[in-house]
Amino acid sequence: MSILKTYAHVFDQDTFKNLAKLESSGLIKQMFGAIGSGKESYVFYAVDDHRREVAVKIHRHNIDSFRKIPAYLRLRGTKSGGFLKTIDDWTRYEFKFMVKAFKIGVNSAEPYRNYGNIITMQFLGTEGKSARLAVNDTDFDTAEWYSKIIDAIINMGKSRMIHGDLSPYNIMNFNRKPFLIDFSQALSLSASTLNFLVRDINNINTWFTRLGYKDIVKTEEIIRKIDESLV
Ligand SMILES: Nc1ncnc2c1ncn2[C@@H]1O[C@H](COP(=O)(O)OP(=O)(O)OP(=O)(O)O)[C@@H](O)[C@H]1O
Ligand SMILES: [Mg+2]
Repeated sequence: MSILKTYAHVFDQDTFKNLAKLESSGLIKQMFGAIGSGKESYVFYAVDDHRREVAVKIHRHNIDSFRKIPAYLRLRGTKSGGFLKTIDDWTRYEFKFMVKAFKIGVNSAEPYRNYGNIITMQFLGTEGKSARLAVNDTDFDTAEWYSKIIDAIINMGKSRMIHGDLSPYNIMNFNRKPFLIDFSQALSLSASTLNFLVRDINNINTWFTRLGYKDIVKTEEIIRKIDESLV
C-alpha cells in the first residue's frame, strides 16, 4: 500500500502489521489519501476487495493520545494495561459503541471491522468524495435535523449509552441527513457519567439556538425522557 509510505513516519510497526492483516482478509484492498486527521487519529479513504468504499480510522500509537485515555477507560470500567494495549482497548471500545449505536438504528457509519488500533467502517460520501461535516455544511432542514439528533440521543440513552463528544464537528451531512461519527469518547450511561450526557445535549441545544431554531427542548426534559425509560 504505497500511500502508507507517505505516513511511514507517523505509523509504527504494529499499525503496519494490523493494516496488513486487514488487507489479507480483504477488508482493505487499496488505500488512498487521508480524509481526516487529528492529533489522535487519521482517517483514510479505501476500497475493499469488492470495490466497496471504506473509511479506515487509525488511532495513533503515540504518547499524547495515551495520556488522554486512562481517565476515560476508568469511566468505562476498564483497567488500562501497557501502552499499545491501552490504545487498542480504546479503539475496541469505540468500535463496540459504534456497533451498539448502529444496531439500535442511530444514523451512523456502519462499522465493519476492528483490528488493534484500526477501525474500518462505511464511507460516508460518494465516489471518493466525503460528505461534509455539519459545521461546514448547514444545507439541511433545521427542524428535521434537530428532532433526528435529539431522538438519537434519547435512543442511545435508553440503551444506556452516551456519544460523549457530540457537536457539529462529529456529525456529517450525508445526503442531507445527520450522521453521527466519532464514538471515541462514548460511555455507558450511569450516575457518574450523566454529566457527559448533559454536555452532549447542551452542545446540540447551543448549536441549534445559534442556527436560529426556536423549538429547543430543555435539557432536563430530554434527560427525563431517557430517565423514565430506565425506571
Ligand atoms: N465514515 C466516514 N466517512 C467519511 N469520512 C469520515 C468518516 N469517519 C470520519 N471521517 C472524517 O474523518 C474526520 C475525523 O474522524 P473522527 O471525528 O472520527 O476522528 P477524530 O476527530 O480524529 O477523533 P478522535 O477524537 O478519535 O481522535 C472526520 O471529521 C471526517 O471528516
Ligand atoms: Mg472527531
